[in-house]
Parts: sequence; structure tokens; C-alpha cells
Amino acid sequence: MQRRPERDLARVAAVDAAALERDALAALAEAETADDVERVRVEYLGRKSALKLALREVRDRETGIALNTLRETLEAAIDAREAELSRAELDRRLTEERVDVTMPGERALRGHLHLITQIRREFEDIFLGLGYTVVDGREVETTRYNFDALNFPPGHPSRSPLQTLFLDDETVLRTETSPAQIRTMEAQEPPVYMVSLGRVYRRDTPDATHSPTFHQAEGLAVDEGITLADLLGTLDYLCKQLFGSDRKTDFRTHHFPFTEPSVEAYVSCHLCDGSGCTVCRHSGWIEVGGSGMVDPNLFEFVGYDPERYTGFAFGWGLERIAVLRHGIPDLRELWRNDPRLLGQF
Ligand code: DAH
Repeated sequence: MQRRPERDLARVAAVDAAALERDALAALAEAETADDVERVRVEYLGRKSALKLALREVRDRETGIALNTLRETLEAAIDAREAELSRAELDRRLTEERVDVTMPGERALRGHLHLITQIRREFEDIFLGLGYTVVDGREVETTRYNFDALNFPPGHPSRSPLQTLFLDDETVLRTETSPAQIRTMEAQEPPVYMVSLGRVYRRDTPDATHSPTFHQAEGLAVDEGITLADLLGTLDYLCKQLFGSDRKTDFRTHHFPFTEPSVEAYVSCHLCDGSGCTVCRHSGWIEVGGSGMVDPNLFEFVGYDPERYTGFAFGWGLERIAVLRHGIPDLRELWRNDPRLLGQF
């Protein structure tokens, strides 16, 4: 064992219990954290503290009792301060970190189907309800199905690369869903009651009413004894389903290569109820899409007997329905994908 230096002994001998207690309690009172308390413990009760050194050197009973009492007092005071601080810390955390279950939560943005997808499904449901089937078409088509089979004459402007996106001389991105009519008729005998919906492509510059890609809904009914009245009745029903049961419909002649006669459908404006507004351009009517009686040339192309069968067809734009029905001023808004707009539908 190493001998303790004389001056340590001198300090031990000089330990003043009352002063030590006063200093320790004062330091404790100033301690504000668990670390502070620990420093006080080391200073006043640690192995090298004046008290511990003095205790080791005790010779007489009274000093022993006095110093041990002091040790117990300091231990108790330190434990008490520690408990007090940890209670205060707990209180602080309970107040500061409290979860107020009555506070309104942060609403998580929840996605839903895009308006065009909703209208597409609505359209399909309307026709499924009428006994039609839904068929898929191809987005990449041959010029034979996109133009020839649909009775587009040679030199028709739609055949120009200025209007249509060509992949090669004989392959295009379909400009309309109508080729699905031909493929369906080729694949089955009449009667045919089908709709086909999807994306189409045109070489258009985007503006408020044009987009190089948009969606169409194609319909075809071929059977014995189908007349123009069936077409008008079906489209009248469709308009009322899409725009409201008190809408009126009107049909005006038009021209498409694949229908004869061709008809453009109009619905009375649902926004102004026919009195005139910007959506209907003050005419009271909005044009919703093309249609007509299937040209017999199409039946010849697919091998149907044009003497026996007649049919009607229609092709409507889904973006157009969305824009008209919901008063969206610019169809490009539909594809900007701003949730503040899309979230409204
Ligand atoms: N294909 C036409 C277009 O893109 C729309 C259309 C009109 C489709 C009359 C038809 C129809 O089936 O009969 O403008």
C-alpha cells in the first residue's frame, strides 16, 4: 500500500462536516440535470472526495458517527434531488410531447380514378347494361384497318403524315377507335353489339380543345332490321345517362367515310338549360360526337351480306364529354395531373 501524502491527511483532519454539508446542499440545489447531480455525487461522495478520504482515516468514534451521518444525509439529499429532477423531466415531457387525440389529424391524400377512367367505365357500364360486349382494340394499326377498311378514299387528308403519326409506310398510331369495328366484324358473324374504348393519336398541336392523344368510345350494332331510329334512340339514351335525364337531343347530318347517312349528335346544354352560355357558345346545344349507319362497303370488306344486315356506329371523344359535362375550360387540365383539379371529380 502506498502511503498517503502528509498534506492529504492534513486536509482530512481539517474536514468541516457542517461546511461540507452546506456546500453540497447548495451545489445540489443548483443542479438542474441528472448530469449535474452526478457531478455533485462524485465531488462530495466519490472515492476521492474529502468525505470519503476523511472516513478512511477516522480514528475516533464521534468523528466516525458524525461523518457517516453526513454521508447518509448527502446520499439521501442527492437521491431526493435526482428523483425530483426526473419527475420534473417526466412532467415536462408529458406536457410537451403530449398527443392530443382530439386534434384534427393530417388528412392523407387518397388517390382515386382519373376522370377519364371514370367516364370510360361509366360508358362501358351503360352499354353492358344494354347487352353490348366491351372489346379491346389496337393502338398500333395498319393503314388497311385504319383507313382502307373504313372506306377512306385515296388522298383523304387523314392519310397524310401531316395529320397521322406513321410508324412506317403501312403502320400508324390509330387515329380513331373505328378499326375495332372491322376487327370485331371479321372475328364474328352478326349480330354484333359492341363498344371499344381507348386512346387515339393525331398530329395535332395541343390547345384548349386539341391534344395529340385523347380517348374515344366506339360503338357498333349490326343485326337484321337495324334502322336510323335505333341509332337515334340509343344515342338519346346515352346522352341522358351521361348528361342528365332531362336533356334533349338533336341530330344533324354530317359526313364520315364509314357511315351513310352520317349524323352528329347534339345535347341541350346542361349548364344553361338551352338559354345560352359560353360552353354551348350561346346556341343552347353542344355537339357530342359522330355516328351514322354503317356504310355497306364495310360489310363487303368483312364479308357480311349488306342485303341482309344493317347497322349503326358511333365514335365519341371522352375528353370532350368530360370537358362539356364538368365545364372544364381547357382539356389540357385533365393531363396536367394537378390533384387540386383532379380531386374535384
Ligand atoms: N371516327 C370518327 C372520328 O374520329 C368518329 C366516328 C364517327 C366514329 C361516326 C364512328 C361513326 O363509328 O360512325 O371523328
